[in-house]
Amino acid sequence: MLANAPSDAVSLPFPSLYARVRHHIPAVEWPAYVRDIEAILRLKRERNAVILAHNYQTPEIFHTVADIVGDSLALAREAVTTHADIIVLAGVHFMAETAKLLNPDKTVLIPDAKAGCSLAESITAADVRKLRARYPGAPVVTYVNTSAAVKAESDICCTSGNAKKIVRSLGVDRVIMLPDEFLAQNTAAELPDIEIITWAGHCEVHERFTAEDIRSVRESYPDVVVLAHPECPPEVVKEADFAGSTADIADYVGEKRPARVALVTECSMSDNIAAHYPEVEFVRPCNLCPHMKRITLSNIRQALEQGQHEVTIDPTVAERAREAVERMLAVR
Ligand code: 13P
Ligand code: SF4
Repeated sequence: MLANAPSDAVSLPFPSLYARVRHHIPAVEWPAYVRDIEAILRLKRERNAVILAHNYQTPEIFHTVADIVGDSLALAREAVTTHADIIVLAGVHFMAETAKLLNPDKTVLIPDAKAGCSLAESITAADVRKLRARYPGAPVVTYVNTSAAVKAESDICCTSGNAKKIVRSLGVDRVIMLPDEFLAQNTAAELPDIEIITWAGHCEVHERFTAEDIRSVRESYPDVVVLAHPECPPEVVKEADFAGSTADIADYVGEKRPARVALVTECSMSDNIAAHYPEVEFVRPCNLCPHMKRITLSNIRQALEQGQHEVTIDPTVAERAREAVERMLAVR
């Protein structure tokens, strides 16, 4: 039983921070978290460091030590504007690489170098070159969930928050969109006049949701509003009321305040938003991302103490990959 009355929180250290995570952390365990949180807050000041955290990070990271939270697009945009000397990316490796591409002169750290992504693993630079040879003239739109080497072979990047806009911005009738087959299919469904050539990469978290999952949630909660991430299979997105990036999902809940909502995405998403909207009931047909969950308060502290794990990118790859990311950021 994790719930604690707000009055319990007042006698604990950092009561305002505890109030945001009290549904996830028992009061008795909070002092142990506080040791890491205090150290991280001090180290950030001493080292002029900033923590960018993805929406799938656990509540104790998201609500207590992160300076900026958001979806992949927001983290990329914030990486450009920060004045910090060190960026700690609380997320997965491709996000840290993107931050480094945009900040070649800053130190970018990822607290666990093994925090990968099944999409990034699904394709190599050589695969992209083969696709180009097979479909000459078709521009390559690459999801940011890829390595810098794959981005370097691409014309432009996209995220789940701007995929449709990016594809349309190219003004052509055929594009290669990789590596997420479902994001590409979901985007194609919204752009019937454009042929989208796909790659068979999948997010191991979102590919597990089924249309039947959504139907059974609706059967149990007829009034539920279902919000899905576009990395889900198209038949799942079709069953949902809305599909969008993690930031789009958070905005939807903030603006519409549905009485009951199901977020068909990674589990921490509901945990993190729920703290802001106590009046909204969250039904949780969620899956965990094992890569996102490699990041902890303890390894964020170690990252800052020991300057690990520094992200580096081969300069010849970095230059071309940066161009693909910057072209994306230039599309408004
Ligand atoms: P967004 O936060 O950009 O929607 O991405 C979701 C995701 O799966 C990132 O790994
Ligand atoms: Fe990759 Fe999916 Fe995990 Fe995001 S949630 S990091 S897309 S495996």
